[in-house]
Amino acid sequence: MQETITPTIETQFEKEIRQGLTDFPKHLSSKYFYDEKGDALFQAIMKMPEYYLTDCEFDILTQYQSEIGTLFSSDNKPFKLIELGAGDGKKTKILLKYFSDQNYKFKYQPIDISQSVLNGLKKSLSEELPQINTVPKQGTYFEALKEINDENGTRKVILFLGSNIGNLLHKQAIEFLKSVQELMHKNDFLFLGCDLKKNPQTILDAYNDKAGITAKFNKNILARINSELDANFDLGAFRHWEVYDPETGTAKSFLVSEIAQTVRIEKLNLEISFSPWETIHTEISQKYDDATVKWLAEQSGFEIYEQYADKNNYYKNYVLRTAR
Ligand code: AVI
Repeated sequence: MQETITPTIETQFEKEIRQGLTDFPKHLSSKYFYDEKGDALFQAIMKMPEYYLTDCEFDILTQYQSEIGTLFSSDNKPFKLIELGAGDGKKTKILLKYFSDQNYKFKYQPIDISQSVLNGLKKSLSEELPQINTVPKQGTYFEALKEINDENGTRKVILFLGSNIGNLLHKQAIEFLKSVQELMHKNDFLFLGCDLKKNPQTILDAYNDKAGITAKFNKNILARINSELDANFDLGAFRHWEVYDPETGTAKSFLVSEIAQTVRIEKLNLEISFSPWETIHTEISQKYDDATVKWLAEQSGFEIYEQYADKNNYYKNYVLRTAR
């Protein structure tokens, strides 16, 4: 009798894990750090003393709230404040509170792929700032942005905070920015958070904290493969390793196999061998300077309209406007 083989369609996650671990050198995408445990670890990272990015952006938004408000409300018409990847909204609440105190007419539209993140945000806002008209949109950034765009002609201010852009290679960042630019009109703004080049040691410390939270965060990708794809990665046999190239401004995270080992991923029917000290590249966290941001902006059809820095010049929020 002939055996019938049921073809299985691999999910995007499965496909990328297979591709990344069978490639040479091995790599995995940092977007897979974020399940429930990964989200919680990232929240813990943002509270670490070494991870200066969050405090810097918090300080910028606090210090410049009135200038930012004046800019966003410049034509005295209502506007939509759209946030890509809102998270817990801790930093955005500074602006929301100020805008509301000033009686600006605006609607807040956080976009996130995770409905539970949006529910949490909506709940905390209804408790802390019930006067704000919050209309969350679940979906990918572009699907949701496109829908919002189709609604009516109200001016848009799009927030992309936290140096999230830094997790993209320049080529991907340009593609991403171009797609946003295509959905923007002449008077819309993109408010972009970018971590800047600085003392290389400060950057290395932010991604290699003493308490080992970043190491856990990095290894969470292996934990996810273990639980979701029935694999047997021994997390203790991998070392978190961070490098920073001060010339290019690229911080890179790796997982390094400390021993020769073979890992079985049951759900992919796949065995992956590691030589001692073989690497898996898992994340880039790009650091910028003005010239690089200007170049990225120009490549994607934007111009820099305004910028705000923290007192140490560690971090900047750039206001981009479409150049065409
Ligand atoms: C989300 N992203 C901007 C963080 C960063 O700084 O690259 C993720 C992160 N990775 C390690 N620590 C924090």
